[in-house]
Amino acid sequence: MTDDARTSRGFGSDNQSGAHPRMLQAIADANVGHAPAYGADPWCERAERRLREIFGEATDVYFTLTGTGANVIALGSLCSAWESVVCPETAHINADECGAPERVAGVKLVPVATPDGKLTPDLVRPRLTGFGFEHHSQPRAISISQASEYGTVYTAEEVRALADLAHEHGMVLHMDGARVANAAAFLGVPVREFTADAGVDMLCFGGTKNGMLTGEAVLLFGEARTDVVPYVRKQVTQLASKMRYVGAQFDAMLEGDLWLELASHANEMARLVAEGISHVPGARVTQPVQANEVFAVLPRGLIAPLAEEFHFYTWDEAAGEVRLVTSWDTQLDDVQAFLGRLVQLAG
Ligand SMILES: Cc1ncc(COP(=O)(O)O)c(C=O)c1O
Repeated sequence: MTDDARTSRGFGSDNQSGAHPRMLQAIADANVGHAPAYGADPWCERAERRLREIFGEATDVYFTLTGTGANVIALGSLCSAWESVVCPETAHINADECGAPERVAGVKLVPVATPDGKLTPDLVRPRLTGFGFEHHSQPRAISISQASEYGTVYTAEEVRALADLAHEHGMVLHMDGARVANAAAFLGVPVREFTADAGVDMLCFGGTKNGMLTGEAVLLFGEARTDVVPYVRKQVTQLASKMRYVGAQFDAMLEGDLWLELASHANEMARLVAEGISHVPGARVTQPVQANEVFAVLPRGLIAPLAEEFHFYTWDEAAGEVRLVTSWDTQLDDVQAFLGRLVQLAG
């Protein structure tokens, strides 16, 4: 690996960036003495208190190491083996978790095609069938990603409509919030407004994509709180004994709203990427750019040479559509270098 490759910043994913220095500092600061293991330490307790201040006292908090683990814990805690989860076809739980929710949480996923990665009541309603029919999996949860895998964001009203639909059917609403910070930064409203207060029952609150070394939190709100979560978390191997290092990062991330600052920056970088692309002849941004992801069709023949210099993923080979993800550490220089080369290649 060359020095350039070691220090370069591409647009592959927000989990390709390193950890924010304050996360490493928080870990170093927590690296003192002995403390109770498995999350019963002062750092986790402080971070839990901060999360309850944000989401309300009726919030249960369970730290985890990975986002897949958080989703599996959330779904596995609220669904039984004969129950199903309606989600977008593009949902991480459906497309990118190697079947973990099916295998580990033991739930059936019911994927729904969407134009923009977002479910609506109209898209979900036809899937809510077979209640009480023993030959069908029983619909138990609706799962949405905020921001979605297309970088689109649900408003509080859109979340509320899905929560109402779920609750009318005795179901729960799960939110995969691996990028919930980016959604909050885009919406500019308190995160509670489009989660706990909008009827979300369980939220996987992401940390890793937003600058943590690793760490996520499963939050359960109000009546969805259940005492089975600790057992599920342990069984699915997400109960780290030295959880204090996750707690310390969340504590530092939530202090002074660093999480929102980092996400706002990533979102702004994505907005600039999209704006630049929209001026390139033959290029077209294909999804609303609301969080930190840009989807765009680029002129044929430009993708391969561009990819030689900047890391990103081709989303749809046939359509020539690429996905560009910005991160907390994306710099204006990175954006300008990328756009400059794109313009040069476009002639
Ligand atoms: C929307 C979403 N949810 C969950 C995850 C899972 O995170 P992890 O890779 O930590 O399991 C990702 C990671 O890419 C994601 O994009």
